[in-house]
Amino acid sequence: MSKGAKDYSKYFDFSNAKVLSEDENGKRIRINGREINIISEPNQRQEKMRGKQDIQVHYEQAVPNEIMGLGSGKRYIIYTYGCQMNEHDTETMSGLLEQMGYEKTDDRKQADLILLNTCAIRENAEDKVFGELGHLKTLKLERPGLVLGVCGCMSQEEGVVNRIMQKHQFVDIIFGTHNIHRLPYLVRDALFNKEMVVEVWSKEGDIIENLPKKREGMRGWVNIMYGCDKFCTYCIVPYTRGKERSRRPEDVIAEVRELARQGFKEITLLGQNVNAYGKDFTDMNYLFGDLMADIHKIDIPRIRFMTSHPRDFDDHLIEVLAKRGNLVEHIHLPVQSGSSEVLKKMSRKYNRDQFLELVRKIKTAIPDVVMTTDIIVGFPGETDEQFEDTMSLVREVEFDSAYTFLYSPREGTPAAGMEDNVPLEVKKARLQRLNDLMKQLSRIGNERLIGQTVEVLVEGESKNNTAILSGRTRTNKLVHFEGSKDLIGQFVQVKVYDAMTFYIKGELVTEPMQMSS
Ligand code: 5AD
Ligand code: SF4
Repeated sequence: MSKGAKDYSKYFDFSNAKVLSEDENGKRIRINGREINIISEPNQRQEKMRGKQDIQVHYEQAVPNEIMGLGSGKRYIIYTYGCQMNEHDTETMSGLLEQMGYEKTDDRKQADLILLNTCAIRENAEDKVFGELGHLKTLKLERPGLVLGVCGCMSQEEGVVNRIMQKHQFVDIIFGTHNIHRLPYLVRDALFNKEMVVEVWSKEGDIIENLPKKREGMRGWVNIMYGCDKFCTYCIVPYTRGKERSRRPEDVIAEVRELARQGFKEITLLGQNVNAYGKDFTDMNYLFGDLMADIHKIDIPRIRFMTSHPRDFDDHLIEVLAKRGNLVEHIHLPVQSGSSEVLKKMSRKYNRDQFLELVRKIKTAIPDVVMTTDIIVGFPGETDEQFEDTMSLVREVEFDSAYTFLYSPREGTPAAGMEDNVPLEVKKARLQRLNDLMKQLSRIGNERLIGQTVEVLVEGESKNNTAILSGRTRTNKLVHFEGSKDLIGQFVQVKVYDAMTFYIKGELVTEPMQMSS
């Protein structure tokens, strides 16, 4: 039988909760002496619904004048878990807080505001956050004025919010992924009131433009769409991130142009399912391939995108990517499984042959493309043969690297209710075999580059040896080479002489270049 998703129902005991007031603006409750102002709380049934109404785009001022300055002289830290989407949300929240006057610190003992930007994709991600909350409790006891907030995907889960309200009452603010722009108001409320504030919208979010973003370094992320409508049976994202909605092309293009002007060298276009970009536009026919064609014309050296869904990866997009220029020859294309039966149970909406056909088309159009993927091992009921299908598909495609995961049941998703008779040891052994295969393939992919000269964007000093610089190729491979620190932030040519599993070694062959080829 399936172990099932972690059951938080034991935290649902609200017999000790007293409703103090309730109206159209929410309700106030008291649990064990702690007052909680629930402006809105998550509701998974609503999160599943996909409304027909048009998405509203808002262009208002992000931080109103009366809130500016509230953070002056104060410091903040945001701990970020999970994917690039969360990392980028953290940049937005940092931008908002700094407009309020807050300054960033790395020392939690100095912080006046700490936010946990959480991830719900697998159970171990959630466990880490609850562990961290335990540590923060001590800090809060030492410094009662500290404001503690929990946001991100876990806050969109009913069970998690209920657990925090009951068991982690020292938390001051809980807000969801659709409420990020409300952060300045929630912080203000936390500063002036003693109660815990919960504001998590379950309905699909609108699009809020003009939010400030605090970007660092030479690589920037740009959201092109939010949410996901795919509802893969194992995945919590369509519930936590809401319905698919695309930013207007003119807003995306203006943001990329501005980053180019500021000197950013590489942009990654972000979405849970970037290939669905534009499908929600009712007033025009403009899809991801069209957006890439327009961004191709912008003078910025490298453009990446993630994450793709194989189902929506169309021929026009392949044609545009084959133009290269700033569109790099690296495609991250999650396959999840090599078995058509498992793909069907996952509701991925493609089968093994269709995936292989797509890969063939991509490789024909872009022969030196590097492909990477995500794979889930141990989906409920996965047989030995079905797992072997994954192994053979990986060999056939020759992915350069893969994020591999042991399936983790998520409360409220269809897969969490599926029967599963495969012992955990068997699943772990499969994951080990897959990882061993991936290591071999990564090394082979890296060895192919020996003797070649590659373009590298220099990112910084290597972690373990400051005499060595590290950077990335267009195909996102990590390169180590000797060179002067002045090269950081520039493009250089490096000749590869050795290959490891996770990086390649090379030597500098040219002076810095101005632009990517
Ligand atoms: N269990 C394990 N892995 C998962 N992923 C998504 N949901 C789950 C889950 N419930 C993986 C998928 C996805 C990546 C971001 O996380 O491979 O592509
Ligand atoms: Fe989750 Fe990606 Fe599937 Fe959307 S497409 S449900 S984000 S795995």
